[in-house]
Amino acid sequence: MAGPHLQISPSILSADFANLERELARIADADWAHVDVMDNHFVPNLTLGQPVVEALARVSPVPLDAHLMIEDPDRWAPGYAEAGARSVTFHVEAAADPVATARSIRAAGARAAFALKPGTRFEPYEELLDEVDMVLVMTVEPGFGGQAFMADQMPKVRAVREAVRRRGGEIWIQVDGGVSQDTIGQCVEAGADVFVAGSAVYGAEDVPARIGRLRELAAQACGGRPAG
Ligand code: DX5
Ligand code: ZN
Repeated sequence: MAGPHLQISPSILSADFANLERELARIADADWAHVDVMDNHFVPNLTLGQPVVEALARVSPVPLDAHLMIEDPDRWAPGYAEAGARSVTFHVEAAADPVATARSIRAAGARAAFALKPGTRFEPYEELLDEVDMVLVMTVEPGFGGQAFMADQMPKVRAVREAVRRRGGEIWIQVDGGVSQDTIGQCVEAGADVFVAGSAVYGAEDVPARIGRLRELAAQACGGRPAG
């Protein structure tokens, strides 16, 4: 049986915002470029919006993975798919109608995903698995890069993996926040397969080598996890 498809999605939140094209070129070996959209309402920080995502999509060597930390994703999420993001993740805490939001993202041509803050339980959203391609389990409070990894979120990753296994289908599980050489192994063991890393990647002297190292550690940890 083939193992899970382990993917690295470096977060450009830790990149040099004055040189984003060059910063994207440094992660050409990754699977995705993770783009954190913050509106200063859902989280106490402000980053970038749709016009910048559109510009990034034109020059990125890898597909964009947009993480929307914004209010009213029902209204704004499909615009990020139209702007060229190949995956669009919205927070369930902010969505009035998550089913409709997921469907509108897919209708606009992107993979759809929902995200859970550390304090949000997965169980009430299990049925939403029918509507998405990925679930993002946050391993920090959303808003800022460089925070400490919350190992207490691993049971949630396990619960999502268990639900995906039970229901069948191919849904990826992403972890975001504090993912590094020290913490990626436990994420793999819990069942995650897409790893967002901001400071761990852009803080490295040799960015491609760090991406390679994270891949290697993830693959190693994969040996210690049950198949499926
Ligand atoms: C936090 C963002 C993350 C952030 C992760 O709200 O969603 O994507 O960039 O940064 P690190 O990997 O440094 O924790
Ligand atoms: Zn993120």
